[in-house]
Amino acid sequence: MNCNNWFRQIHRWLCIAFTLAVIINIIAMVQEKSSVWVGLMTLLPLTSLLFTGLYLFALPYATKWRDAGRSGG
Ligand code: HEM
Repeated sequence: MNCNNWFRQIHRWLCIAFTLAVIINIIAMVQEKSSVWVGLMTLLPLTSLLFTGLYLFALPYATKWRDAGRSGG
């Protein structure tokens, strides 16, 4: 598996972690047990999702630029 696939897999599994954290957050809010660390639990995977997501976004463009450079125009 190459590096790009790793980023895709990490992004995919972080998305599950983020979804679970959101559900836990909602439950905590409904039960009025919300606290700073429950909130941070969602921010941590979301921040990682942002960086891996931006990497995945840039990937096709980076490939295009690289290929354009290789063919000399
Ligand atoms: C926070 C900012 C995020 C950015 C910038 C971002 C960006 C991206 C990009 C560019 C892709 C690749 C699309 C393609 O195939 O070309 C992607 C795929 C995906 N994203 Fe995100 N994303 C973000 C957050 C999330 C969140 C919050 C979730 C779910 C809770 C999520 C779930 C997914 C899934 C499941 C895929 C498909 C992965 C695969 O192909 O295996 N993303 N995202």
